[in-house]
Amino acid sequence: MQSAHPIKLAVFGQPISHSLSPRIHEMFGNQLGIPVDYQAIESSPEQLPERLIEFRDSGGMGANLTLPLKETGLELCEYVDIGARYAGAVNTLKAIKSGWHGYNTDGAGMMLDLDRLGLQVNGRNVLLIGAGGAAAGLLEPLLAAGPNLLCILNRTPERASTLVDRFAHRGNLSAGGLEEGPDLTGFDLLIQSTSAGHNQDGLTLRRDWLNDNARAYDLNYGRAHTGFNQWCQNNELPVHDGLGMLVGQAALAFEIWTGKRPEIQPVLTSIRGVV
Ligand code: ATR
Repeated sequence: MQSAHPIKLAVFGQPISHSLSPRIHEMFGNQLGIPVDYQAIESSPEQLPERLIEFRDSGGMGANLTLPLKETGLELCEYVDIGARYAGAVNTLKAIKSGWHGYNTDGAGMMLDLDRLGLQVNGRNVLLIGAGGAAAGLLEPLLAAGPNLLCILNRTPERASTLVDRFAHRGNLSAGGLEEGPDLTGFDLLIQSTSAGHNQDGLTLRRDWLNDNARAYDLNYGRAHTGFNQWCQNNELPVHDGLGMLVGQAALAFEIWTGKRPEIQPVLTSIRGVV
């Protein structure tokens, strides 16, 4: 039986009206018998401290942060978990007595999805395209899964080198420029983390960087996945979009708030019909 009072949750971002998070978390709540009041609240980075106080005062107990607030969120937390610290960004907040505890479930959400799809990282050669905030959030859990090699390629090579320097103690890493390509070939898994698809920009990638049996994973979904998806189809490279990661990171946030992990697959099936 459901309790009478819904838990009060919200996602903050700018823009935010397109967010799928309210729908996803309502479905999680229905699944687990936990009534949820989950709002989408527009906020700029400058407005966030005040918006969070208002939300907290109105009974808010948990929140998600999305673009462009994940870095600002880190500074507003009393405590942050290791994922958030490594990523330099927070996507989940939980109210504690003295403020907020910050987490980053993005990287772990992608790992859940790679598992679901049977994409192995342990012992494999992984090529990560992009070295922005999204890539930074993946590195800790990716390296914890024990790849043989993780190579980061970025349009601006210096950003890839900076990330490699930060994580060099955690595994076998290399960095390079997208234009030059990696020093080695034979990669098993290609992870696309750039925002190029949002501007419908093409990426200059080469199929011969990868094994014949390689597979690809794009952090993007919907329209932003179109260009990379087309490149993969043209190059006979099986590819998965990032919708499962979206639901995975949300499931981990829901678990942080409630102690209960919802099932991902039924929610993923349901939202696949609307993007
Ligand atoms: P996010 O948080 O989405 O990662 P970001 O920190 O602004 O956003 O990083 C965007 C990433 O997409 C970067 O790796 C960026 O490359 P640069 O560091 O060279 O800017 C990459 N990116 C964006 N548009 C791109 C394009 N047209 N071609 C290649 N890479 C692109």
